[in-house]
Amino acid sequence: MNDIATSNIARAANMNGGSKPDFSRIRTVDGLDVKGKRVLVRVDFNVPMQDGEVTDTTRITRVLPTLKQLVNGGAKVIVLTHLGRPKGQRSPETSLAPVAAKVAELMGGTKVHFIKDCVGEEAKRGVDALKPGEVALLENLRYHAGEEKNDAGFAKQLAELGDIYVDDAFSSSHRAHASVEAITYLLPSYAGLLMMAEIRALDRALEHPARPVMAIAGGAKVSTKIQVLTNLTARMDQLVLAGGMASTFLYAQGVEIGKSLCQPDAVPVVKEIMARAKQHGCEIVLPHDFVVAKELKAGAEWQVCDAGSVQPDQMILDMGPKSIADLKRRFAEMKTLVWNGPVGAFEFEPFGSGTFELMREAARLVKDGKLVAIAGGGDTVAALNIAGVGKEFTYVSTAGGAFLEWLEGKTLPAVAALAENGA
Ligand code: 3PG
Ligand code: MG
Repeated sequence: MNDIATSNIARAANMNGGSKPDFSRIRTVDGLDVKGKRVLVRVDFNVPMQDGEVTDTTRITRVLPTLKQLVNGGAKVIVLTHLGRPKGQRSPETSLAPVAAKVAELMGGTKVHFIKDCVGEEAKRGVDALKPGEVALLENLRYHAGEEKNDAGFAKQLAELGDIYVDDAFSSSHRAHASVEAITYLLPSYAGLLMMAEIRALDRALEHPARPVMAIAGGAKVSTKIQVLTNLTARMDQLVLAGGMASTFLYAQGVEIGKSLCQPDAVPVVKEIMARAKQHGCEIVLPHDFVVAKELKAGAEWQVCDAGSVQPDQMILDMGPKSIADLKRRFAEMKTLVWNGPVGAFEFEPFGSGTFELMREAARLVKDGKLVAIAGGGDTVAALNIAGVGKEFTYVSTAGGAFLEWLEGKTLPAVAALAENGA
């Protein structure tokens, strides 16, 4: 049975017709008087942890400007977030206590309290004791089942703790959860600085790009990216298919791919995406030479070959030098680049060359003012950092799932709620 139904494409294409919320209605914290007010700030401190320590502080540092602005404005800042997926149960691994300690460290002189529950008596006492210019980080929202159920009663309990609500958790916006959706109907609601930056960057790249605009879509499987690819063919001038996913496209065109990752099931879908691209005047760009090896491991023996020369016992693990040179030429003609997914198996040396080299080239063009380059997704950001250009793209999103859903053309419920309850 063909489990990757082409009907998905029709569904994805329909979503393109759905209109985006009116972002201009979203109120921002700019110029907001918060003096003495209790401000509930939803952030996404769903940060990677190991042995009770935060191992990457990006999601914390990126909301510091919002937190500092509120602190400096004399607000009582009450921070809400989830961590992990505790499913309505308390669990020591998902406690935010270590995150609160890290926030205190990064906030410098500001007093940061940790409160062991996000609703109820404990939360009320903690918030009542808070002084203007201080911060309280409340325990994991997902210890309460009402959060993920977008439960109105739970949202009300949260709302009682504040006078104003600020959402700075763009990376949680694809979830219709109580602390990002239901709550916006209960308090005057504003977007934080990071939320606005994310929305503006994605709007600039996808809704109103300077053209020509190219997207690079990498990743292992076509089946997880059908919606993304379908939406992008309607919006991009060029769509580069890369990474494991490219193999299935090559296979669909009869190119020998050896034992590369492939989803033969997805061939009808691939053909339909190609047809749609043609219809929209979007050029699909596939690699035409490759770095191949017999096994996927660091230091594996490798070789470069052209399309047509991959042997049955070889797999494609990176783009070849000709494809890389071709893409660099194409970059020079673009005004906007949207990047999601590495172009090779960058986690394994030396199969990251294509990804790193192309990322550095895009960063160079950004620096010269010739390109707007926007990237998102966990793997992509990790690769940018290894390539040493994590800060040199025009914009790097903090979001994984939310970034992907935006690329799919979906409306993010939390962003829609801010627009709905805005000006
Ligand atoms: C993320 O890390 O993508 C967000 O924090 C959402 O987390 P979730 O996938 O558990 O909802
Ligand atoms: Mg996730």
